[in-house]
Amino acid sequence: MAFRGDVAFITGGGSGMGRLAARNLAREGKKVAALDVNEEGLAETAAGYEGIATYTLDVTDAAAVETAAKQVEADLGPIDRVYNAAAIMPLGKLLDQELTTIHRIMEINYNGLVNVTRFTLPGMLERGRGDFINFASMAGWLPILYMGAYNASKFAVVAFSEVLYHENRGKGVRFACVCPPPVATPLLQQGRDTVWPKALDDAPPIEPQEVLDAIEQTLESDGFWVFPGRGTSLGWRLRRWLPDLLWSRVHKVEGF
Ligand SMILES: NC(=O)c1ccc[n+]([C@@H]2O[C@H](COP(=O)([O-])OP(=O)(O)OC[C@H]3O[C@@H](n4cnc5c(N)ncnc54)[C@H](O)[C@@H]3O)[C@@H](O)[C@H]2O)c1
Repeated sequence: MAFRGDVAFITGGGSGMGRLAARNLAREGKKVAALDVNEEGLAETAAGYEGIATYTLDVTDAAAVETAAKQVEADLGPIDRVYNAAAIMPLGKLLDQELTTIHRIMEINYNGLVNVTRFTLPGMLERGRGDFINFASMAGWLPILYMGAYNASKFAVVAFSEVLYHENRGKGVRFACVCPPPVATPLLQQGRDTVWPKALDDAPPIEPQEVLDAIEQTLESDGFWVFPGRGTSLGWRLRRWLPDLLWSRVHKVEGF
């Protein structure tokens, strides 16, 4: 593991990759703050793990994020690693989705991550150490039908994370922007419960541990972009070089 510090701050810690990261770090003897709106999920994350402290937090509430960051540092010590993993993924055509849903996706997936950045990163930069890990997605590079609102939120995360890294590199904090293909976590069920794009079946979900391992490898090698899974970075290159290829495939599989 590339982690050299003691204290981790994990949003979305009540499920999926946030939960797995929390447990992995706790097993390594680290002090972990798992933060989430889902209290039951948090309790499950921490069950049997002494090193995991849980905090109920809605990342869209900037004042609450500031309070939580201060509380975690008071309870556990200075934050050495942040995972910005909280997100939602209801899907649908852009003119069919409720306006409130489209706004909520951006509020959580993008603005929530901005809030967490504002109240955790400055301290890490002052101390000149730590790992700052933002979860974007391949959906932040490859737009497809039915996924527009989620795509937009992840494109925003990609742009924010890239500029954040370039504005602050060389100051002792390592940055990673994580761009996985579909991963086998409860997030995907939100797509299945709304509209499931057939195009997603082209990429069977990878395991969450594969994503977390790829993050460690990237941090260890002083990289920034994390493209876990076989063929993921090839998909990224194809989108850049041959954008029409993606759209002809997507229209064909969705049938419109
Ligand atoms: N699972 C995938 O296929 C996949 C693929 C690429 C990227 N990602 C990204 O990886 C990250 C982790 O996703 P996951 O698959 O573990 O999802 P998940 O659904 O298992 O976990 C996300 C967690 O975020 C929490 N959350 C939602 N709204 C919140 C809010 N307002 N405040 C605080 N917490 C909130 C949820 O309660 C949930 O516990 C997300 O950013 C996701 O977009 C996931």
